[in-house]
Amino acid sequence: MNKRPIILDGDPGHDDAIAWLLAKASPELEIRAITCVCGNQTVEKVSYNARRICTLLGIDAPIAKGKRKPLIGPEMNAPSVHGESGLDGPPLPEPVMELCPLSSVELMAKTLRESEEKITIVATGPLTNVASLLLAYPELKEKIEVISFMGGGIRFGNWTPAAEFNILVDPEAAKIVTESGLPLIMSGLDVTEQALMLPADFDRIRSLGGQISQIVADWLEFFYGFHKNLGYEGAPMHDPCAVASLIRPDLFETQELCVEVETCGEYCRGTTVGHSRKPANVRVNMGIRREAFADLLVEAVKSYKEN
Ligand code: BDR
Ligand code: CA
Repeated sequence: MNKRPIILDGDPGHDDAIAWLLAKASPELEIRAITCVCGNQTVEKVSYNARRICTLLGIDAPIAKGKRKPLIGPEMNAPSVHGESGLDGPPLPEPVMELCPLSSVELMAKTLRESEEKITIVATGPLTNVASLLLAYPELKEKIEVISFMGGGIRFGNWTPAAEFNILVDPEAAKIVTESGLPLIMSGLDVTEQALMLPADFDRIRSLGGQISQIVADWLEFFYGFHKNLGYEGAPMHDPCAVASLIRPDLFETQELCVEVETCGEYCRGTTVGHSRKPANVRVNMGIRREAFADLLVEAVKSYKEN
């Protein structure tokens, strides 16, 4: 099978970690590089988390530390959702690999330059690294197959009524990406808040046995803790949607929309405005077959036990 080469760019984060677990478990994908960006926590913390996750999952790809601040706005983190470490909950193994000496942008550029095939970027944090890459190396755009990102929401926000966290942290970066002319797949809150793992799914994962199953079940419990207080029935798997839509597009309902990012606005900075008044620039995931998606994640965890 021809594997699709990918770069994972994120701010792990519980749902980033589960997205990376799904990517590693998918025979259709080959992880060429991991790049970290400030978001859920500082770039130091999320880079350390990335090394711990890669050690746990056996991901053998260079890991680079990326942008420590958004392009223009102030840094924002999400300790209320992911804890002080950015990945609170179960103890994790200490990393066995060092960080790559290159910055995230340089590692992305090198990975693209050296690849014979086009590469897919899966972005599950603020888009600061990706936008910086496009600004620094516009000639490498032709090496990018598609950018599948988690961010935004056509109908609503989560960090403000109008804006989702990843886009709100760096709206200027999101604007650069959405105006890049590259093929884009957006998994925003419209779909990711339907992509719930329910407590019964946590139990299915825990009952698989083994270290990774226990850790994933604990991550899900931790992540659900925050959302349960807001009335959710399960843990929304925002970031895994950006991976799932590459390997199982059949699970998703999509709309081709023109998505524009509000960078000003007293109340609406970071809003993703989706409409059809101009030509479409984004394939937007709007719906998901939840049960089949939950089964996909359970099977992904199970595959670690079998290997
Ligand atoms: C996004 O924000 C982060 O907290 C999650 O990791 C996800 O990428 C959801 O709004
Ligand atoms: Ca994330």
